[in-house]
Amino acid sequence: MIELIKVSKIYQLDEDLFTALKNINITIKQGELTAITGPSGCGKSTLMHIIGLLDEPSSGKVLFNGKDIAELSDNDISSLRNEFAGFVFQQFNLINKLNVLENILLPTLYYRHKLPFNANQRAYELMERFSIAEKAKSFPNKLSGGQQQRVAIARALINKPKIILADEPTGNLDSKTGSKILELLQELNKQDKLSIVIVTHDPQIATVFPRKIRMLDGQIIKSK
Ligand SMILES: Nc1ncnc2c1ncn2[C@@H]1O[C@H](COP(=O)(O)OP(=O)(O)OP(=O)(O)O)[C@@H](O)[C@H]1O
Ligand SMILES: [Mg+2]
Repeated sequence: MIELIKVSKIYQLDEDLFTALKNINITIKQGELTAITGPSGCGKSTLMHIIGLLDEPSSGKVLFNGKDIAELSDNDISSLRNEFAGFVFQQFNLINKLNVLENILLPTLYYRHKLPFNANQRAYELMERFSIAEKAKSFPNKLSGGQQQRVAIARALINKPKIILADEPTGNLDSKTGSKILELLQELNKQDKLSIVIVTHDPQIATVFPRKIRMLDGQIIKSK
């Protein structure tokens, strides 16, 4: 589905250049469950952003279903990203001024007329599934961490993506709530055949995932 070939990412810091990713080769297939681990600053989030088409590499290629995304316009890349990827973050990244339902519907805002399904109905189905339906009109700051993360996952799923990219999704949760969120992601992989890529610091969590990628200093040092 998505393939990175010799991808590097170089940031310019004043006069200096900083290489955040060096020659990364990785393929993410449909339905795969992948855990990325490695110390702080090794490039995990940078890699996730490139896999999710949120950012472009400084060199190397990103192929989406075999097509080089460098040949697409910015607009095409945004629509592609919106269709195929959903993002989940450590800090939930919900909008506090919007209620739960509005947060979940946010990614459909500019696309609702194009969607082949009823976004409102899908939002309610997702809230039912994740046991947050009675919170539809509540605001994020009135919810527990686990509930906020389930809202964020529902938001990531609203456009029926093919892949969920979760960057430390359990980092702000206690271990029990964190395990629940992980179970939910595993269930989405099994039942809905979604590809899941999760970044985690927790070696215990990473053991549950069949495919593990270990990074160090911008490189993949171990992959299985
Ligand atoms: N916009 C940027 N400009 C300059 N340097 C950056 C930028 N974004 C990231 N970096 C640097 O690139 C490196 C990799 O950052 P990245 O966020 O990918 O690390 P990470 O593995 O996700 O770390 P953490 O586990 O702490 O989240 C870091 O050294 C970081 O300082
Ligand atoms: Mg990070």
